Amino acid sequence: MEKLMIAGGYPLKGTVRISGAKNSAVALIPATILADSPVTIEGLPDISDVQILKGLLEEIGGSVDFADNDMTVDPSSMISMPLPNGKVKKLRASYYLMGAMLGRFKKAVIGLPGGCHLGPRPIDQHIKGFEALGASVTNEQGAIYLRADELKGARIYLDVVSVGATINIMLAAVRAKGKTIIENAAKEPEIIDVATLLTNMGAKIKGAGTDVIRIEGVDQLHGCRHTIIPDRIEAGTYLILGAAAGEGILIDNVIPQHLESLIAKLREMGVNIEAGDDQIFVSPAEKMKAVDIKTLVYPGFPTDLQQPFTSLLTGAEGTSMVTDTIYGARFKHIDELRRMNAGIKVEGRSAIINGPIRLQGAKVKASDLRAGAALVIAGLKAEGITEVTGLEHIDRGYSHLVEKLNGLGATIWRENLTKEEMEQMKNA
Ligand code: EPU
Repeated sequence: MEKLMIAGGYPLKGTVRISGAKNSAVALIPATILADSPVTIEGLPDISDVQILKGLLEEIGGSVDFADNDMTVDPSSMISMPLPNGKVKKLRASYYLMGAMLGRFKKAVIGLPGGCHLGPRPIDQHIKGFEALGASVTNEQGAIYLRADELKGARIYLDVVSVGATINIMLAAVRAKGKTIIENAAKEPEIIDVATLLTNMGAKIKGAGTDVIRIEGVDQLHGCRHTIIPDRIEAGTYLILGAAAGEGILIDNVIPQHLESLIAKLREMGVNIEAGDDQIFVSPAEKMKAVDIKTLVYPGFPTDLQQPFTSLLTGAEGTSMVTDTIYGARFKHIDELRRMNAGIKVEGRSAIINGPIRLQGAKVKASDLRAGAALVIAGLKAEGITEVTGLEHIDRGYSHLVEKLNGLGATIWRENLTKEEMEQMKNA
């Protein structure tokens, strides 16, 4: 096991290229199950979630070739093997295997998903959708059993706006009989990306990216080539980093429209941002002003950037409030930031940050993926050395993080944990 070592205080500058979107990748890869001939997805990120999904497709008989960020999946020999445990538990997005396998085989057995611990993360809306399409869904000893004689299109109203439920229902409905209408659907760019792949495979989908998605089921889907969208959360993380510890960073391969809420907030703080077609240049404010943010569904401020943004706010003049309306308990990074001298308290769903504070390097632990990003940003702007454990979370979502940061002039490296640290981790 490794930890991340960060020597803080070096100003970062240069260009960083953004990888393919993690939250698209984890849906696009399972979507290939629905085809009857090879599908190629170009530009996938090098992250552990992608490797785990590759392994899962191979477990059910898929032939998968993954090189230079492009993955070709031949799904023709896949069978509906139960996937109750093991790899499934390593990532939340394994729930997309439910929709995809149900759509193709009309049955699936999938273990309850794992992933980041952000408080309760139910999948009741996914199940509501599968049931509306005619599937029986039962939870037996920690695995979800899905069975249907046939899937029939239905009108499904989501009680909660959910990215996962919207995509999962789309995956099952594209091969159902007749018309499905998803109302109160999520509108995130990743949903449009998945709908684009499915459409290239022969599916009939209208309205992806709005809150009503209409799907006309088809009997068969075929192979195709698809290029993934850039990762707006990775791009947002580097934008925040550029504001916190940069001396001018150019973010390349980004869709600026996907980050409007973040860009607006950064500008409100006094950060300089110039957005081009597929690049954004960021340089720090002379004096950063405190701001309040509230996370919302897209196009609101993304919950996935709330934690990195908190690290930035420790350097802003005044009191800021960060409220997470999506995951009210996504604040495990706060105790760690406090170890680094930040003045933050949590009240209910909000964190209140007093700044500006000079952060100090410390030994901290990433409890989840974006908490990890928050601690890396904090470490890069802190005085002295910061050691971040819990690297397995960061590796789930940030492609070549150490290389990209060193390319910007950071001093950051991976080190093996000492025996003593391994013991401490086991007992924690
Ligand atoms: N919810 C329900 N019932 C459901 C589904 C969701 O109550 O059946 C609730 C959740 O508890 C949450 C809200 O609805 O309060 C939104 O959850 P959503 O389903 O949209 O989240 P998700 O699809 O499981 C994706 C991303 C998350 C991101 C959220 C919100 C993937 C694989 N994950 O999760 O990304 O935080 O949308 O935008 O796409 C991350 O990248 O770090 C990450 C956690």
